[in-house]
Amino acid sequence: MPLDLYAEEIISHYEHPHNKGSMDKPSISVHEYNPTCGDDITIYLDIEQGRIKDVKFSGSGCAISMASASMLTDFIKGKRLEEIEKMGLPAVIELLGIDPGPARLKCATLSLKTVKEAAFMYQHKAVDRNTKEL
Ligand code: FES
Repeated sequence: MPLDLYAEEIISHYEHPHNKGSMDKPSISVHEYNPTCGDDITIYLDIEQGRIKDVKFSGSGCAISMASASMLTDFIKGKRLEEIEKMGLPAVIELLGIDPGPARLKCATLSLKTVKEAAFMYQHKAVDRNTKEL
């Protein structure tokens, strides 16, 4: 896909985010923020038998952060927690279709970091270093 089509896709997800909202009784919810800009996100996961049955997110942020949250929440539905634990920056770049570059890296990975923290915490596991460094 040409680069401008990726940009259009990002803007479309930003303007019409998928899975935006909250959950009454999530299996777990985790809040994170980007310390450099103050933007924040809360991820709500509904987990059944080790699999993500449903996911919602709320918060505010730049186009890259909100679009990546929208795309990521679509992507992880139905995935096993073990699969989530292994995800990293390459997965986010693949979803976005562009490399956000060092200045926007944290914007792009904020939602993945939050989702991964939720997956680890739900299983009472320590959050691994790769996740902390996202
Ligand atoms: Fe705050 Fe991108 S500028 S998350």
